[in-house]
Amino acid sequence: NVLSCFWRGVAYAIVLLYCSSYLTMRLSAFLFKDVSSKIEYYSRFSPSPLSIKQFLEFGRDNACEKTSYMFLRKELPVRLANTMREVNLLPDRLVSQPSVKLVQKWYMQSFWELLDYENKSPDDPHALNDFLEVLIEVRNRHNDVVPTMAQGVIEYKEKFGFDPFVSSNIQYFLDRFYTNRISFRMLINQHTLLFGNDTNPAHPKHIGSIDPACCVSDVVTDAYETAKMLCEQYYPAAPELKIEEFNAKAPKKPIQAVYVPSHLFHMLFELFKNAMRATVEHHEDDKDDLPPIKAKVTLGMEDLSIKISDRGGGVPLRKIDRLFNYTYSTAPTPSLDSKRVPLAGFGHGLPISRLYARYFQGDLKLYSMEGVGTDAVIYLKALSSESFERLPVFNKSAWRHYQGGPEADDWSNPSKEPRDASTYKEKR
Ligand SMILES: Nc1ncnc2c1ncn2[C@@H]1O[C@H](COP(=O)(O)OP(=O)(O)OP(=O)(O)O)[C@@H](O)[C@H]1O
Ligand SMILES: [Mg+2]
Repeated sequence: NVLSCFWRGVAYAIVLLYCSSYLTMRLSAFLFKDVSSKIEYYSRFSPSPLSIKQFLEFGRDNACEKTSYMFLRKELPVRLANTMREVNLLPDRLVSQPSVKLVQKWYMQSFWELLDYENKSPDDPHALNDFLEVLIEVRNRHNDVVPTMAQGVIEYKEKFGFDPFVSSNIQYFLDRFYTNRISFRMLINQHTLLFGNDTNPAHPKHIGSIDPACCVSDVVTDAYETAKMLCEQYYPAAPELKIEEFNAKAPKKPIQAVYVPSHLFHMLFELFKNAMRATVEHHEDDKDDLPPIKAKVTLGMEDLSIKISDRGGGVPLRKIDRLFNYTYSTAPTPSLDSKRVPLAGFGHGLPISRLYARYFQGDLKLYSMEGVGTDAVIYLKALSSESFERLPVFNKSAWRHYQGGPEADDWSNPSKEPRDASTYKEKR
């Protein structure tokens, strides 16, 4: 009797287990279908770009948390959905790398959490506070997106190699994906800094992450000093800095920008690290007499430009475009476990800095003279009303970019076996 009771119990347990796993499967299939249709729905909207001026004015004039909430609860899912649709157009073998899957999981989770607020009224006493906390969680969850994605790309490259078509698609994708991430964080930071408790007491005049009177040369000096400290951990010396300003708009006045200082710092820090490494390695035998790095800050009617010039031996023209590839670096790959911050080696410094510059309609260009040195120029818009976010949109034309094979080259290629004109002449 006891035995039959036991077997009956086992049978019940099996049936129960089966039913519950079936129900879980159905539920997750239902949720997945639901979330997929939501991604599809939100990706049909184009993101709404904002200018620095708009960010500033909104934050300055008694910023209204409810208005920001109403804007973000739609805009954030739209920006997420636009980029999530694009991930699926990458080669299957890349999307199935564990690191890429992990990144996708983070995006899915954040998208899902934000959907909770789709219909919650801003007058609901808890909605605003909860939303703020969710934003902080989302931001933290996405902290490691860049190294994790980079890991996925490296894994893929090691296993399958890159043909030029895949390589150009991945470059195209990462530029858009990381720009989307920059924009996403910009929106979250503005909201949490304006309405949360994490205001920065060191910068009471900042509006969120924007400094309405950002002294450009001060940021240049800060970035230089930080890079110098790092450089001195790897090399016995670091080059000096010489700054010069040229204000064509208001002569003799210090050059100020309405800008996000952390973005500017990021770009300058990367350029200084590169310039220092090139200078020290090019003058290995002359460490006590390193040529200085020169920074020139200029302001015109339209552009605010910052040129960082080094005498680090330069790069041949043939390689310049390659420097902006996400996997290109001439430094040994740094160990991820190392406690020391690396000076170079991921190959992300230049391409990501260019995205920061382009994000507000600027640019970053390199002009090099092989054998001598390199000029890196950051261009920013002089007017905050022209610094509009430049955002990727998932549409037909983006979709088309991932389809089709590489175009045939429509310029002549130098022949491998040049025709010998002298024989021809002799015959004549
Ligand atoms: N000022 C420069 N002079 C000479 N070569 C440069 C200069 N700046 C960049 N490079 C070359 O471009 C490559 C790519 O630079 P990038 O900053 O993107 O990556 P990295 O410095 O190698 O690594 P990290 O991601 O840590 O910055 C460098 O490895 C270097 O070979
Ligand atoms: Mg670098």
